[in-house]
Amino acid sequence: NELKPYANEPFTDFGMQANQEAMETAIAQIKSELGRTYPLKIGVQMIETEPKITSINPGNLDEVIGFVSKANQELAEQAMQAALAAFETWKQVPARERAEYLFKAATLMRERKHEFSALMLLEAGKNYVEADVDTAEAIDFLEFYGREMIRLSNVNEAQPLAKIPGEDNRLTYIPLGVGVVIPPWNFPLAICVGMTAAAIVSGNTVLLKPASTTPVIAYKFVALMQEVGLPPGVINYVPGSGAEIGDYLTSHPKTRFVSFTGSKEVGLRINKLAADTAPGQIWIKRVIAEMGGKDGIVVDETADLEAAAVAIVASAFGFQGQKCSAGSRAIIVEAVYDEVAKRVVELTEQLQIGLPEHNFAAGPVIDNISFARILDYIDIGREEGELLTGGAKAPGNGYYIQPTVFGDVDVKARLMQEEIFGPVLALAKAQDWREAIAMYNDTEFGLTGSYFSTDNDRIAEALDTIHCGNLYINRKCTGALVGVHPFGGFNMSGTDSKAGGHDYLLLFTQAKLTSRKR
Ligand code: NAD
Ligand code: ALA
Repeated sequence: NELKPYANEPFTDFGMQANQEAMETAIAQIKSELGRTYPLKIGVQMIETEPKITSINPGNLDEVIGFVSKANQELAEQAMQAALAAFETWKQVPARERAEYLFKAATLMRERKHEFSALMLLEAGKNYVEADVDTAEAIDFLEFYGREMIRLSNVNEAQPLAKIPGEDNRLTYIPLGVGVVIPPWNFPLAICVGMTAAAIVSGNTVLLKPASTTPVIAYKFVALMQEVGLPPGVINYVPGSGAEIGDYLTSHPKTRFVSFTGSKEVGLRINKLAADTAPGQIWIKRVIAEMGGKDGIVVDETADLEAAAVAIVASAFGFQGQKCSAGSRAIIVEAVYDEVAKRVVELTEQLQIGLPEHNFAAGPVIDNISFARILDYIDIGREEGELLTGGAKAPGNGYYIQPTVFGDVDVKARLMQEEIFGPVLALAKAQDWREAIAMYNDTEFGLTGSYFSTDNDRIAEALDTIHCGNLYINRKCTGALVGVHPFGGFNMSGTDSKAGGHDYLLLFTQAKLTSRKR
């Protein structure tokens, strides 16, 4: 079959009545399925455990999304054995055949797009657009990595070798083995699907440990892969405590790689544990760790100030600021600081807060731990800057916090240095554009950034001097598209693995050179 060239999945226009209604129907359907129990999936076995993880709607705390079985170390070990056994056959399945599972899953996910999104509205607190973008990105990852594996398996295309007389030389990309895939909750479908799909299409088998706040959407993906006929043991679904089974699996001698996306603290822990060699281990574990951000937008006095203010607000408050790419800092040159700050506050105050299923612009944060942490940062902000708007809990039976803006924050303040992962934006004033860029760079992170300017010479310099993995000019710093904006960051933002880029599958494979004398 001829494959169509890769193209991004279009986003849904919820301005159209029919699309709005389709989402409402999907929400009603998902609501009728709430409160079910979900087993672990280990090889061919579906295993129910006690106790279970209770997944709840962060926007309506009385609503239980599901009760999800929880692996302990014994079950994690069973899952490792199942993955090791499955690897022996899965690694021999031709790349094209492996890719076909991803393409079939993409087709079904596209057909049921709103179902996946509706579940994220309820389990993660995303509004329609945020959930739709998440599902579209998941479809993109399936389509993109499937094609990437086919490309990588074509020896002449992946890395053509120089020819010498008398020898046939080939470089092939073979899988690594069993990997542990640990996604975060904030893109509970897209990142979970992307990390898992990349690993399995490369010929590896995996233990998927979803985030404990969003295990049901991860299960829905695992069930989809089962529906398309993925052999048992290729994806083993093992929710559980990070400290208990996360550490166990990271340290396991048979773990060949860990693919992690989440916080800096957990990423560094995994990196450290994985660096130790367990008895019987015969490889250096590979760690792919994509971590946090303290992303920001720089605005100079030549910029389109309205566009800059709109981008600052969208980047800071999309999905309540719970994106690794969230623009939680804006650094504005003093000549236009007051004007931009005023407009940012006006736009922020237009964001209505309420239930995700009613499609409010601002919804809840994910859980009580985040809720308390973000409110603590708001208290810190009162000491470190001037509260311009927000600054309190918002009403509702969930973890609602007002979108909050602090002005005149010092570059060294905690608000400017630490990832808050919530709806809190810090504005800082710079004397000029070069100082603003230096202030942007004054961070241990390096994930996303934007520069707003109309001066081409400055933009040319900024493209070199702003140090982050995803740098945008005159647009928001969130919303990377698979295949268009390969995504990953520098320094404490991680290993810059560039999800959605042509290098990504190399991380899940090892290159083997064979040289045959004629
Ligand atoms: P987290 O680090 O708390 O958890 C991430 C995952 O790690 C979860 O599945 C969790 O259960 C698991 N975990 C926790 N302890 C573990 C351990 N000891 N061993 C193994 N696994 C363990 O992060 P989170 O709250 O889920 O996600 C938010 C963070 O993720 C933010 O810092 C955000 O910036 C980051 N993030 C980064 C990217 C990126 O591409 N750079 C993308 C999305 C999110
Ligand atoms: N890839 C996501 C974005 O760019 C995190 O916003």
